[in-house]
Amino acid sequence: MQLRIVLARTQHLCHNAGQELLYGGPHVKTVVFSGVQPTGLIHLGNYLGAIRNWVRLQYQYESYYCVVDYHAITSAYEPSHLPERVLEAVAANVAAGLDPEQAVIFVQSQVPEHTELCWILNAVTPVGELQRMTQYKDKARRRATVSAGLLNYPILQAADILLYKGTLVPVGEDQAQHLELTREIARKFNATYGETFPEPEVLLGDCPRVMALNDPAVKMSKSIPGSYVALTDEPEAIREAIARAVTDVGPRPDGTMSPGVANLFDILEAFSPVETVERMRQAYAEGALRYADLKRVLAEDLVEALAPIRRRYRELMARPDAVRDIARQGAARAREVARTTLAEVRQKVGIITL
Ligand code: TRP
Repeated sequence: MQLRIVLARTQHLCHNAGQELLYGGPHVKTVVFSGVQPTGLIHLGNYLGAIRNWVRLQYQYESYYCVVDYHAITSAYEPSHLPERVLEAVAANVAAGLDPEQAVIFVQSQVPEHTELCWILNAVTPVGELQRMTQYKDKARRRATVSAGLLNYPILQAADILLYKGTLVPVGEDQAQHLELTREIARKFNATYGETFPEPEVLLGDCPRVMALNDPAVKMSKSIPGSYVALTDEPEAIREAIARAVTDVGPRPDGTMSPGVANLFDILEAFSPVETVERMRQAYAEGALRYADLKRVLAEDLVEALAPIRRRYRELMARPDAVRDIARQGAARAREVARTTLAEVRQKVGIITL
């Protein structure tokens, strides 16, 4: 079966505010689930590609947002820094607008049912499918030895989602393939053990891919210095990154915008008032736009738009106990659901109860 990709347009969601949007068909309750790596840094690409959607969805649906520390240990990382990275990820997402009153915000390792379901799903996952995953192939190619954890990463991701019977997964497009596999795992489990899991759908952000500021041929990435603006960057860092963004020496011969300038316009669309965007587009069309002006306006609008996020983040990180409390309470809520699903799964699989 083909993966159905649902594109959320801002207007679409707004017009339906307060009304139930039934992504999973009329009989399935919509449950939103997404996961975030504890990378310690959220940039504009992450925000526009996924997190901004999460913030909207939490007001409409039962929503779960999970910091995936067990996924993080499948890539190179520093064990002594991981706890801090996890707290930062919780704080950054709350600062970006996730509300612990609206959504269940928690840390994967604090709900052991994730790894338990992962093991059970191992038994219905074809190795060939895992080896086909683009993210796996990319990472495996760059390593001398490849761990089973790297290969099995998408099974844990499937377990994350299916544990809550998630039906809608807002992620960046790079995760679409993992979601396709999640659907296949759900189908195989259902076919083997009886109808249990809905097949979750992907929800992509309404912003096109945000490209690296200093190399618009590749995606914005935290591993490319100069490529990104982080949500928690200080004003000076934001101004500098934008000032150094790659543009061009004028429109291309065929009249189309170069990727670097198009990328700046995409970011402008996301953060600046409509009138500003119109004015800049108009100037560009007339050949009268000075990129220095575009960059200055964009940088100032970004500084202003990100200020509340930066402030909330600083406040939260100054009170790590408050952040821990958010994550603890989230885990307690998540666990109630996780336990129920796992009890059903164990029974269906034939695991003994003593
Ligand atoms: N693999 C995802 C990423 O790298 C993170 C993730 C883990 C996730 N579990 C998930 C995303 C479940 C959505 C749903 O971005």
